Amino acid sequence: MPIATNSPDAQVAVADLNIYLADPTSQAALAECRKVAESLILTGALIVKDTRADQGANDTFLDLLESYFAQDQKTLEKDLRPELGYQVGVTLEDTERPSCISTPKCINIISSLPASERPLDLTGHSADPKARFFWRMTEEREKTGLSGMGMHEAPNVVPRAFEGVWKDKMEGWGGRMKAAVQGVAEMLSVGLGLPASTIYDASRYGSHLLAPTATDLTKYGHLDRYACLSLGSILQVVMGRKLIMIIPPRDSIFAGFHSDLNFLTIHGKSRYPGLHIWARNTGKKMPVKVPDGCLLVQAGKQLEWFSGGLVKAREADCLFMVWLGWVAGYHEVVCTEGTLKAMERFKAETPERPLWRISSTFFYHLSPDYELHALPPLKAEAEKRFGPQDEYGSMSVANQVKRELGLIALVADE
Ligand SMILES: [Fe+2]
Repeated sequence: MPIATNSPDAQVAVADLNIYLADPTSQAALAECRKVAESLILTGALIVKDTRADQGANDTFLDLLESYFAQDQKTLEKDLRPELGYQVGVTLEDTERPSCISTPKCINIISSLPASERPLDLTGHSADPKARFFWRMTEEREKTGLSGMGMHEAPNVVPRAFEGVWKDKMEGWGGRMKAAVQGVAEMLSVGLGLPASTIYDASRYGSHLLAPTATDLTKYGHLDRYACLSLGSILQVVMGRKLIMIIPPRDSIFAGFHSDLNFLTIHGKSRYPGLHIWARNTGKKMPVKVPDGCLLVQAGKQLEWFSGGLVKAREADCLFMVWLGWVAGYHEVVCTEGTLKAMERFKAETPERPLWRISSTFFYHLSPDYELHALPPLKAEAEKRFGPQDEYGSMSVANQVKRELGLIALVADE
């Protein structure tokens, strides 16, 4: 099967998983598979239709997580598992650092982008205000006996106040997300010209994480007026004999510019806008609007490695690559005017509900004992289309995850 062909511009495609599931061998299904591959190659993202992941189920899940994160700090702290790199249970605000802060090349990318396409400045940003909960959704198997597998084999945490419902709700929405992203993985295999089970076989025992991500909008739901001082964008107006400074407010960070460490990330529709992604072939910042009944998929670093750079998820190596727009897979979540408008609407419609922005995120991983390497036909295709690629080498997924968790401050440096 040929690899999906190039397209003139970097639009995030909408692919229909229902068509593939109805008959994976049909011409219509194959066309959807090529759309999946090409959208991930060009933009690092994809919107997918899957009727199993309906908006009602997403809403029930968002309601539960809003109530969970609205608990007091002491109660939430009981669900912390820092000794497991926070890979089960809760991670509180001001813990996870955007990986860009630890990688000078990434900082160079930001300053190399045109001002209008830059993410929010990470100078002075130490850790993200977002919190999150990790619920591991791994297919059970015999323990591997390999060292360093503690975080991949740890039992899940069930919060005390939600003991009767937590597991069912996590498995309910998480099961839908896992089925959807597994379907996308199969479509991606086909769209890349590989046997349909290639990615599934490499990810069957992955430490997949349902990872609802939460921001307290009562604390962080505002624009950052004073950040503009550093940009020198102060407008000065002379009124009579007085000089008045007008400082236009700017978006503020919920989750700073970064790319995900896993293979594919899938999100349900959030109640509040604020996600920006960057496309590979234009380098342009794009606000993401997920249509009702659809899910958003993004490429992670494991996919970049696996595909030898055909799908990008991380920093370019030099400014030349930045000019070519090699920033696909990067994203940020920020408070925008749109976020504020949604807050006003929810406050008016449901004043009794906690004001938290929840993203119903799911991280799909390759298996921890899978030896990550660039598949030769994919790397050859990447070089044919985009020029020389990195030498990715090989490393077990368990070690790659540990290294990446060090970069985002979830495990201590050794
Ligand atoms: Fe992310």
